[in-house]
Amino acid sequence: MDMLKRYNFFIDVLIFTCGLYSVASLEDNELKLITIGTDVTDGLRRYLRSTNKYDLDAEVFGIGMDWKGGDVANSAGGGHKVNILKKELEKYKDQENLILMFTDSYDVVLTAGKQDILEKFKKFNARVVFSAEGFCWPDPSLAASYPEVKSKEKRFLNSGGYVGYAKDLYEIITHRSIKDTDDDQLYFTNIFLDETLRKKWNMKLDVKSELFQNMHGAQGDVTIKFKSDHSYAYNVITGTTPVVVHGNGPIKPEFNRFANYLADGWTTQNGCQACKEETISIRELKDDEFPTVLVSLFFEQPTPFAEDFLERIANLKYPKSRIDLFIHNKVEFHNKDIASFLEKYNDMYRSATILMPSDGIYEAAARNWAVEVCKQKNDQYLFSVDVYAQITDPETLIDLIEQNRTVLAPILSRPYKLWSNFWGAVNKDGWYARSEDYIDIVEKKKIGLWNVPYITGAYLIHGSLMEELRDIYSAENVEPDMAFCGGLRKRGIFMYATNRKILGHLVDYDNMDTSHLHNDLYQIVQNPYDWKLKYIHENYSQSLELNRTLVQPCPDVFWFPIVSTKFCDSLVEEMENLNQWSGGRHEDPRLAGGYENVPTVDTHMRQIGMEEHWLHFLKVYVSPLQERAFEGYHSDPPRAIMNFVVRYRPNEQDRLRPHHDSSTFTINIALNTPMKDFEGGGCRFLRYNCSVTATRKGWMLMHPGRLTHFHEGLVTTKGTRYIMISFVDP
Ligand SMILES: *[C@@H]1O[C@H](CO)[C@@H](O)[C@H](O)[C@H]1NC(C)=O
Ligand SMILES: *[C@@H]1O[C@H](CO)[C@@H](O)[C@H](O)[C@H]1NC(C)=O
Ligand SMILES: *[C@@H]1O[C@H](CO)[C@@H](O)[C@H](O)[C@H]1NC(C)=O
Ligand SMILES: *[C@@H]1O[C@H](CO)[C@@H](O)[C@H](O)[C@H]1NC(C)=O
Repeated sequence: MDMLKRYNFFIDVLIFTCGLYSVASLEDNELKLITIGTDVTDGLRRYLRSTNKYDLDAEVFGIGMDWKGGDVANSAGGGHKVNILKKELEKYKDQENLILMFTDSYDVVLTAGKQDILEKFKKFNARVVFSAEGFCWPDPSLAASYPEVKSKEKRFLNSGGYVGYAKDLYEIITHRSIKDTDDDQLYFTNIFLDETLRKKWNMKLDVKSELFQNMHGAQGDVTIKFKSDHSYAYNVITGTTPVVVHGNGPIKPEFNRFANYLADGWTTQNGCQACKEETISIRELKDDEFPTVLVSLFFEQPTPFAEDFLERIANLKYPKSRIDLFIHNKVEFHNKDIASFLEKYNDMYRSATILMPSDGIYEAAARNWAVEVCKQKNDQYLFSVDVYAQITDPETLIDLIEQNRTVLAPILSRPYKLWSNFWGAVNKDGWYARSEDYIDIVEKKKIGLWNVPYITGAYLIHGSLMEELRDIYSAENVEPDMAFCGGLRKRGIFMYATNRKILGHLVDYDNMDTSHLHNDLYQIVQNPYDWKLKYIHENYSQSLELNRTLVQPCPDVFWFPIVSTKFCDSLVEEMENLNQWSGGRHEDPRLAGGYENVPTVDTHMRQIGMEEHWLHFLKVYVSPLQERAFEGYHSDPPRAIMNFVVRYRPNEQDRLRPHHDSSTFTINIALNTPMKDFEGGGCRFLRYNCSVTATRKGWMLMHPGRLTHFHEGLVTTKGTRYIMISFVDP
């Protein structure tokens, strides 16, 4: 029996055995929740989710009406609410047993059912109970007229929540006339502060938040608690468990965060319950039935791994014939990536709108433009992705659509970091603030669908919003992302962020070095995760499994897959692009001594600015393999002065005479393929009369440098052979 059922059972027994009047009478009363919502907003949907959850009878007045009560979030107003109620409540005024509970809707969540609400109401011994808060608003001069309260209690009336008998409430609401633009809180305050009227209707304030928790100014007072598969709000100051939680005033983001958990939306026992609600399914559809999507891609600064980004966009599992493409590129640097992407895929998409640097469009204008295009094309969704947001899961677009939220971002973070594409909270100036649950969400200790105040990088927007979002990215003195999120918050449109599945990650684009041919090669330190994905051999880690026998083509010569084909090609191209091959002479000004005993035609890593990166590579990727091959030898970190690519070809240098290396161990990575790129070649170890000729691109030979492993480079008879050599620990 869960807690709620047990509780109801207990009440039933009480009624049966004792016939207690005050408890028994609970059963006689009807409870109806009433609220006003002129638009069906995300907030109203959230309110209704909570009333449905607790089987509450809720009636929404005013749908479709023009709101005439002003901007109540920021100034006085709200008289329109009273006038709507005047009309709507007339039908209830004679129902003796009817208890009405009014709350606002956009910023309210219910956390309990009828039994609980009536029980708590009865304890007041009042006909009407108003919620209370710590601010005397809108007329602070009335503060002194309020009855005194104890230090932990709230003294002032808030009209966002009240409960009472229909008859009394109707009388209060119709007691005086009020203009739509007058303040409804002032209206009720004036009645409450009139002692005669207060007594007449036996009005009380919920000073301890037994029923109503207004969160403005009381943020620290409330916390979320969990009991089995239920969540509830707990007021730590008064020890109460309020049933109506109201994010009144300026604390919407904090309230939204609370509301993620309330009404069992997320519980410690069952995780995200709200995630399973209101979802849709599209993956069974035929290609031409898929919703149309505007996929808009933004290149606003030089960013590493852009070609991979584009390839991943192209790999999204979604019919391209249902995708309109929009690209804004602000930096020349990315022209090449985009051109080759378009060459490959452009024709497959439904349409493409491409803005290049030469078009001179600013970021905000481009983002607004995408909204316009989405509207024009009548696309059902807009999927906006920035180049630094790597979408690695091909199902991402389908997955996001199926979660069916108005605005939804996949949570992406920088690998091994807490940096992500959402904020859990904002401060009063609209800037980043860390929420209590931020780290748990980034680290996936809490998994769910989170209503958050800021998202960026990648998000899906429902197409029906486009009219409302016109020009949303432009605001004075504010970056487009801040303008967008601030605009959504102002409009009461929820931004959700999901970490139910890891759909991708973020690339660090700060101060990207763009001076090379293959700039991503140089990202090993700044973006180790992407670097590994792109440049490390997919079977690299197999060699680290202790149950695996290492490959030894010759005695004490070990052979490992280490780098990707992409790495090999890029490194060779980088070297050829520099085109400063040494002449293979003994005199070598690049060396400290100016003399090379066994010279080759080569280029040093230092010459292409990759020396530091390479030492890092040796430490991260080579050392673990060395420790497996030659147990008990640690070089921490590995040192190497000679790191270079050798070029062998006929009519240049085609071989290397037998020699020792000045190293403890040597690594030798094949950068291309025998019988395809060249003929002949290979390495022969004289002591063992053993050669490795069928070298494998991306595989590394590792052998001791001196004494035992006297070796030579065999003749390359045709084509060009490239190898990457390091003398480790000379
Ligand atoms: C969610 O799905 C329902 C049913 O298809 C649809 O009416 C509603 O507009 C969808 N909501 C969003 C935000 O996509
Ligand atoms: C990795 O190993 C698997 C077999 O274990 C093989 O099929 C695959 O081709 C290897 N990958 C590469 C890039 O060689
Ligand atoms: C070897 O160990 C790894 C884990 O280190 C495991 O995944 C793999 O299945 C094992 N292979 C064999 C052949 O036992
Ligand atoms: C070395 O090996 C080759 C073939 O692998 C063989 O023909 C040759 O006789 C060997 N030389 C010696 C000295 O053993």
